[in-house]
Amino acid sequence: MTIDPRRDHDYARPDARIHLNLFQPFGPVYEWSRTPRPQDYYEFEKYAELVATAERGLFSAVFLGESLRLREHLGALNDIAITGRPDALTLFAYLAARTSHIGFVATLNTTYSEPAELARRLATIDLLTGGRAGWNVVTTHNAWTGENFRRGGYLAAADRYRRAEEYVAAVQELWDAFPADGVPRPVERHGAFVDVEAVPSVPGSPQGQTVYFQAGDSAEGRDFAARRAEGVFTHRIEHDDAVAFTADLRRRARAYGRPGDDLKVFPGAAVVVAETEAAARDKARHFRDVFLTDRRIRQVVESVWGRDLSDELDVDGALPAEGPSVAEQTVANGVVNSADDPRRKAAEWRALAEQRGFTVRELVEHLTSTREFVGTPSAVADELAHLVRSDAFDGLNVTPQSFPDGLDDVVDLLVPALQERGVYPDAYAGTTLRENLGLPESVGHRVPELALLGAVGAAVEGAA
Ligand SMILES: Cc1cc2nc3c(=O)[nH]c(=O)nc-3n(C[C@H](O)[C@H](O)[C@H](O)COP(=O)(O)O)c2cc1C
Repeated sequence: MTIDPRRDHDYARPDARIHLNLFQPFGPVYEWSRTPRPQDYYEFEKYAELVATAERGLFSAVFLGESLRLREHLGALNDIAITGRPDALTLFAYLAARTSHIGFVATLNTTYSEPAELARRLATIDLLTGGRAGWNVVTTHNAWTGENFRRGGYLAAADRYRRAEEYVAAVQELWDAFPADGVPRPVERHGAFVDVEAVPSVPGSPQGQTVYFQAGDSAEGRDFAARRAEGVFTHRIEHDDAVAFTADLRRRARAYGRPGDDLKVFPGAAVVVAETEAAARDKARHFRDVFLTDRRIRQVVESVWGRDLSDELDVDGALPAEGPSVAEQTVANGVVNSADDPRRKAAEWRALAEQRGFTVRELVEHLTSTREFVGTPSAVADELAHLVRSDAFDGLNVTPQSFPDGLDDVVDLLVPALQERGVYPDAYAGTTLRENLGLPESVGHRVPELALLGAVGAAVEGAA
């Protein structure tokens, strides 16, 4: 995208600022089977170095996903994209001692754990970091995770969000029951999915309350975010799609009596910057060649078709003429989302490939490149300023494409360019995550008990 910063755009939010989080620093460019020393990804000193760089760049938080089981593809271990994921809270305890301002957001699901236990662990990390903790609430859609707990399949999608609602309400009550300056009270809740009789053992958060994030794309997921979350992690990043997604979330939040812009939206993105446009493109091309092997390209197509295409797909040819025959999207990988209809998605891809003359390889390259910002620091800064001012999102969960230099480039080249444009802070606003994200007092204290999850969202959808 070419942005003319001098053009007088009619921006929805002319004074908006962007937040950067460091996401999964040993991210998707690594392939288990091709990595000479996978154990490098478990050297915590390397995490500490990256996080120190992110803090030098005034990043709001380090953000980790959760994989309770390695990813699978069509029933087999998927050795691409995942090099293993250490337990976030344990890692954060180590990193907290090495940092002073950056926040720590852990993705922790509500499907395979119990609220009293998680409330206690999160309260501990929030205390330990002096109020820098965040919780990315997910429900987890993959059946293979359930198998790790011998509960294959476990809960239907709608029930996962009902359980999440009860779970988060219980955590909230436990946190409220031990104020920082008070004595703990017993909590008793009985619901369809969650039973708690507990006395909290760790006092409340130094930041008023741990910051809630959410990652999920369905109507139930968005509704849950609108009620509970203060940050949303999403794959939606292209201008029109992102503007519509963020507007939808804010509309749902307003329907629950919130201002709407107290919800910060963070798409995940790769950022590749270099002194010249050509150098940045070369670097991005190199990462793409490493990551987008023929097998990976085929897997992206298979994630929609839902079956093995190894005998019928030529990645330098066209998409399969037949299928997909599955109606439900079972894989979410950023290129496809769980709310997508596979048949509609396939039709969309066929139309795009035909219109642009793309082979499968070119199509997948195109689909993945839309989640990258590549260019000179000033071009990328202009583009990001344009997007946040258009209210496409509030910040990025940045995955460096190489380490440590990928993050060094963002901090040393992009951050100053953003600061020059007045869209990035010159210093941390405070010492807590809540202060540094510019969030008001938590919505958690104001959310009414919900018996009718989905009803308000449906009303909002109807009105939109
Ligand atoms: C951007 C994004 C990141 C996610 N990260 C994780 C994760 O790290 N661990 C996990 O178990 N689920 C993760 N999820 C999956 C969600 O838990 C959720 O199960 C899934 O998106 C289905 O919910 P939905 O139907 O509302 O989209 C993520 C989802 C999105 C959209």
